[in-house]
Amino acid sequence: MLTKDFLLTIGLFLWMYFLWNRRRLYSMALKLPGPLGLPILGIAIECILNHRKLTIRTKYMDKYGSTVLLWLGITPFIATRDPKVAEQVLSAPECINRSSILTRPIAHGLGEGLLTLEGAKWSERRKHINQAFKHNVLLSFFPIFNAESKSLLTLLDSLVGQGEKDILNDIIRWSFRIATQTTVGTDVQHEENFKNDTTLKSYQRGMKIVILNILLPFTQNKIVALLCGLEGQRLKIVTDIDNMIQKIVDKKLNTKTENSAQPEMQSVINKSIELFRNGEMPMQDVKGECSAMVIAAFETTGLTVRHTLLLLAMFPEYQEIAFEELKELFPTAGYFDVDYEDLQKMVFLDRVLNETLRLMPSVPISARETIRDFRLSNGVVIPKGVNFGVDIFNIHRNPDYWGPDPGKFNPDNFLPDNVRDRHPYAFIPFSKGKRNCIGWRYGVLSAKLALAKILRNFKVSTSFRYEDLEFADNVGIELIKAPGLAFERRT
Ligand code: HEM
Repeated sequence: MLTKDFLLTIGLFLWMYFLWNRRRLYSMALKLPGPLGLPILGIAIECILNHRKLTIRTKYMDKYGSTVLLWLGITPFIATRDPKVAEQVLSAPECINRSSILTRPIAHGLGEGLLTLEGAKWSERRKHINQAFKHNVLLSFFPIFNAESKSLLTLLDSLVGQGEKDILNDIIRWSFRIATQTTVGTDVQHEENFKNDTTLKSYQRGMKIVILNILLPFTQNKIVALLCGLEGQRLKIVTDIDNMIQKIVDKKLNTKTENSAQPEMQSVINKSIELFRNGEMPMQDVKGECSAMVIAAFETTGLTVRHTLLLLAMFPEYQEIAFEELKELFPTAGYFDVDYEDLQKMVFLDRVLNETLRLMPSVPISARETIRDFRLSNGVVIPKGVNFGVDIFNIHRNPDYWGPDPGKFNPDNFLPDNVRDRHPYAFIPFSKGKRNCIGWRYGVLSAKLALAKILRNFKVSTSFRYEDLEFADNVGIELIKAPGLAFERRT
């Protein structure tokens, strides 16, 4: 009896200690609207049962306001679709770090890089890696963009007359091949594992483990991971990827440094090797930086191309306008090359691409974690360590900024007159502020180039209806049902 009372007292004491330690979270929670959800679970079960649909957050934002507090288990998560709040968060030094819920599994699974680094280490690295995205370096990537898009065209040509097919894997293969070659150099083409897609599959399996680690954080525990066989899989993946990058690094280390003014010398791998040679970067980070860059680049760009094709298949009247613009530039169909100047002339395709990134942003949420207390302009103090989601998907569909029918596909949203007076944070597919997407110009150029070639050569169609699209949270936005596309040759 005495023991039972004693245990009860200890339990009560620990519970009160737990609540006391979290008092600042509860004080913040009282000032922010949002659903309480179930005790202890919050809205976690609702998210899982509804396949992490993005409209769960939309529902709560419609009900409680544009900035809401959601309980994911016992963890508070603030989400906003208000561009003004997004601006405060994305410009604040207190919010410079990405959420560790996301970065810890990526860093553990695939290595440290810009995507996962924090604070001063990140800002130092960003200064160096920025040089790999200068205009002349991007121009030097065009032969790779053109060659890989040509291979993609050949593949799509084989789908003509085959009915509707989900082409996601083919497009992801295209974006992976350009991301890897521009990051580690074209020598990678000679690596067997690159040629036979083993490396791509390793990255994809690695990302699946990362997603599992994010959704079920206890799987990050080494013992749990060992028991479920995840650790073995992870080690194999890391070894596959590391071995491939190491071979390329070794070759570069054994070669005399070339003329450093050449754009190739500014590539991510060469910049990283330069830092390694100067003793500013360990070898593990050289490989981690390359891996993180490839991961950040290929899914986002691939999804953007796939989504643009889907939307143009669903809205054929806009596809015809895009085709006419391309036909004017490239009167003859076939394997023509596209250069930077050509891309500047595709003004309608630009509007279509922007509208696609608005309605189907490849990254649906930009999640940050406060490194110090941070005061919102309404006076609410967000304590250190709280996760804050700038909800890109819902910002792009906020009726206060996009009108009463924000889900309507309308490329005219990006006519200069319509863009001029819009809040700068109402459209942020590449996030904004100091920690925005380093590869945004690269993403736009490579996606536009591939789209120009595809849309000039093929008419795409689908029986899938726009109204039936459903979106889910993932590292990149996920379509709950995958629509197929049919291809017809153009002359
Ligand atoms: C259309 C294609 C792309 C989209 C929509 C996109 C979107 C984004 C977004 C929204 C972020 C910020 C994420 C956050 O705040 O949590 C981001 C970060 C990043 N992106 Fe992209 N991205 C694209 C293409 C690329 C490409 C092609 C590369 C590299 C070649 C790249 C490299 C990165 C890196 C390294 C970061 C982290 C930057 C840092 O923390 O300093 N992205 N991207």
